[in-house]
Order: sequence, then C-alpha cells, then structure tokens
Amino acid sequence: MKRVSRSTMPEWRALRQHAAAMRRTGLRDLFAADPRRGGRFALEAEGVYLDYSRNPVTAETLRLLFKLARACALTREISGLFAAAKVNGTEDRPALHWALRDFSGRPVMVQGADIMPGIRCVREKMALAAGRLRSGGWAGHGGKPLTHIVNLGIGGSDLGPQMACLALRPFARQGLHVHFVSNLDPGHLAGTLRDLSPENTLFIIASKTFTTQETMANAAFARAWLLDHFADPAAVAYHFAAATASPQAALDWGVAAENIFEFWEWVGGRYSLASAVGLPLLLAIGPERFEELLRGAAAMDEHFRNAPLEANLPVLLALLGAWQVNFLDARTHAILPYDQDLSRFPAYLQQLDMESNGKNVARDGRKVTHRTGPVIWGEPGTNGQHAFFQLLHQGTQAVPCDLIGFCRSRDPFRDHHEQLLAHLIAQGQALAFGRTRSELAAENVPAPLRPFREFAGDRPSNTILAEELTPGVLGKLIAMYEHKVFVQGVIWDVNSFDQWGVELGKQLSRRILPKLKGEADAADEDSSTRALIEYCRKKRR
Ligand code: F6P
Repeated sequence: MKRVSRSTMPEWRALRQHAAAMRRTGLRDLFAADPRRGGRFALEAEGVYLDYSRNPVTAETLRLLFKLARACALTREISGLFAAAKVNGTEDRPALHWALRDFSGRPVMVQGADIMPGIRCVREKMALAAGRLRSGGWAGHGGKPLTHIVNLGIGGSDLGPQMACLALRPFARQGLHVHFVSNLDPGHLAGTLRDLSPENTLFIIASKTFTTQETMANAAFARAWLLDHFADPAAVAYHFAAATASPQAALDWGVAAENIFEFWEWVGGRYSLASAVGLPLLLAIGPERFEELLRGAAAMDEHFRNAPLEANLPVLLALLGAWQVNFLDARTHAILPYDQDLSRFPAYLQQLDMESNGKNVARDGRKVTHRTGPVIWGEPGTNGQHAFFQLLHQGTQAVPCDLIGFCRSRDPFRDHHEQLLAHLIAQGQALAFGRTRSELAAENVPAPLRPFREFAGDRPSNTILAEELTPGVLGKLIAMYEHKVFVQGVIWDVNSFDQWGVELGKQLSRRILPKLKGEADAADEDSSTRALIEYCRKKRR
C-alpha cells in the first residue's frame, strides 16, 4: 500500500512550524504562565501517574500532536492490533502478545481458529510444573530437589524474564534461585555453573526459534556439564525444560515432552514475557503472582484499546517522544528507574524499543524521510546521578528522560525511601528549571564560578509514579511501554514487529568463523577483516 511520507503531511509541517516557536519558550515561562500546569499536564490511568508538565508542550502542541496521530489513522491501527490484523507485514502475521494476558473470555481468531484455549492450556501446564517443582515432585535425576534454575536464552528470551525476576524479587520463593545466561561467551555459563551442582539444577532453554546460536551453544555446554556428572543420558529429561515456538526441535534436542512449554509465531521475542518465556518468573513467584502480572498488563491493554487518544497513557507517552525526536532533535531517551530492583528495566526497554522502531524503511518499503526510534539507555537513580547526570544537566544536548518511581518501598527502612523519592522529584525539577546566574549571585557564589555553576534548565522529563512495585504494576508498566512503542511505530510508519537488521551480522559471523579457525582462506575478505582475523590467529597460536 502506498502511503504519504510522514514529513510531507500538513500535520507534520504544522508541528515543525510550532516547534520553531516553542524553541523560544522556556519551561520557566510555561510554569509562570500557568500556576496549575503541574496538575494539568498530568494523567493517571490504571494507577500509573504521568506528570509530563516538564516537557516543552502547550495545549496547542498537544492539539497538533493528536491531529497528527489521527491523520496517521492511529485509532484504526489500534483496532487493527486488537483485531489480529497482520500488523507485521514483512513476516505476514499479527502481533498477539496482548492475547497472552486476555482474560475477557472473547475468542481471538487466527486463520479461522480461536487461539485462546491453547494459551490457557500452556499457562495451566506452566502452573502445574511450578506446583511440581515447588513441592519437590519434580526432582533431579538423583532425587534431589531442583533449587537452581538456569535460563538459557538471549534477547527477548532473556531480558524480559530477567528484568521481571529482579523486579519482583520480594515475591520469589526463598531457596529457589534463578540465573540467566545469555552470552555466547562461555565464561557466562561457566561462571554461573561454578557454584552450582548438577544434582539440583534445572535448565530452561528459552528460544522461540530453537536455532539461536548463542542459546544452542549454551544448551550444549549445559548438557555436557550435566552428563559429565551423571554419565546417564536419561538425566536430560529431568534437568531440561524448553520455552519455544518450535516444540519439535526441542523434542529432537532431547527435552522431555512434558517439559516443553509452547508459544507461537505471533508472539514477538521482545513481547514474549507473558508467554512460556515467563516460565522462570512463574516458577520463582508462583502462578498466582504471575497471573497478577498478566492481569495488570491486561488492564493497561484495555485502557489503551478504549481510552480516547487524549486520555490514553501509551499514546501520550508516544507522542511526547515523537515531539522530542522529530521536532526538537532529541537523539536519545533515558530510562531512569528510582528502584534498584528495576535495574534491568532500561536494558529490557532498550530491546523493546530499539529492535522495534530502529528502522529506516517505511511499511511500504520506501526510505523514511524523518527520524525514527531514539537510542534508549539508562540506569537506576540515584546511581546515575553520580555518573552521567552531569551531561544531562550541563551537556550540550537535551536528553529526554523518564524518571520512574514508587510511592512506597517494599523494604522500608527509616526514611530511606523518602530520600530516594526526594531525589527523583528534585532531579526533574533541576533538569526543568536549572539555576540562573542571578540566582547564583543571590547565593553569593563568586562571579568567576557562576558560568560553571549555572544550569540552563529546559531539559525535558516525564515523571512516572505508581503506588508500589507489585506484579500488577509491573505488568501495567510493561504493557504501557509496549503500546507506546506500537504508537510510535504508527507515527513513524515503520513495522515495529520485525527485526531484519539483526541478520547481516549473524550471516557474516558464520562466514568468518572457518577463517578464524584456519579452515578457510580469508583472502576474499576486506583488509580490515583480514588483519583482525590474522591478529587473533597469531595471538592464539
Ligand atoms: O537476533 C534477534 C532475535 O531474533 C530477537 O528478536 C530475539 O528476541 C532473540 O534473537 C532470541 O531469539 P530466539 O528466542 O528465537 O532464540
């Protein structure tokens, strides 16, 4: 289908013109002009509170952004997502991660069949497995309880469950330890296994395709480690499980049928936490808590599906992001959770966002003429404050940030949590309003130091708050960001559900490997590649 290039749309041009005017308007002016701005430029939905007043936006900016969204047929696109339309055009399939947490009882039809019974069936199988494992009914080959779970997966088969296991740490069963190994570097698995015993270790091979090089190499390493100990191939059936969309491949590899947990082609890897990929999380926190996470995500799905665009949290976040990227030249976006247990949340969102929207080709195959996904990065606060916040405050580029926090701590101790929240709120304030030279003069800061101690301000941020980090709240945050990414994909006219950009490196590494091993001649490679291969070979000799 031919589409009008986004940047030539009148709505896009109107925003460009508006941005030129907005560049001359500071946040101090906006707050001075409207004493109630902090409350007016805020939205709460499903217990998630977003303060976006510290963005350079006015009511007119929002009007123009929503106009753009409508011109991009956003409402129709959202309906299409939830009607199982083939939103992933290059792979000719729908994106149905939302169905994994749909408790409405409505059928979801794919190629004439309702997929919901299959989803429920796998979830029940996962719950039963958790019951068996937690009660000791599923024990190791030698009869010992399985107390260590090692998830072998990468990308979406690692980042989601890893992030969530850490985020929901207080809900995990004591004495059940979950480890995540993703890297092809053998040191990752070797380092993890060093303190483990094969007797009580369960491996989960998490791979949608069951062909990913890193995961299959680690699975082979794990099997060798296990069989080194047991010297009995029957041990594999007790110590390996699989979460995959290729159950036959898992069976062929040697995973016992009862330990294979299936998911489906229409779940993208980076959207797969609510599928069988969530198995390590479910084993750790139990099926009830896992369901709370799914129900939280489902509540956000319903909000996204039904709320008017103007009161729609993911839509608003997406449009604010597009405003920064396309009209105010932001190149990156920082995710700054003020919660140590969300320390893997930035990495998780990095894949979700950058693998989805890091594209330069529109859905009709033409090059885009506008900027798409920003670089997503981040670390928890307050740690980041003592590392890279210097650049956020006084560097030469404005970096939009999401400051994420929770009103209550799960580990209360004296006033630690209030201190943490004070930092969260203060950072957004400092970024927005800075400190002027006249304020510095009033504080008797010596004149020569004032240029160095001045903070320009006008650094945009969203503040996202929820009551407490529970499984339900985590589910809501995950779904909120998933849908934000979807909306931005619509605004940028890219397919958020494919990832062709990861292929070339994989192919080239397959070509380079035999040359590195000395089994093939490297003469046909470019001179840099040749020299690098030669250097490695020389140093390995
Ligand atoms: O190479 C990228 C990728 O395909 C991701 O999209 C995916 O999450 C990851 O690899 C792992 O894939 P799989 O689950 O098939 O092993």
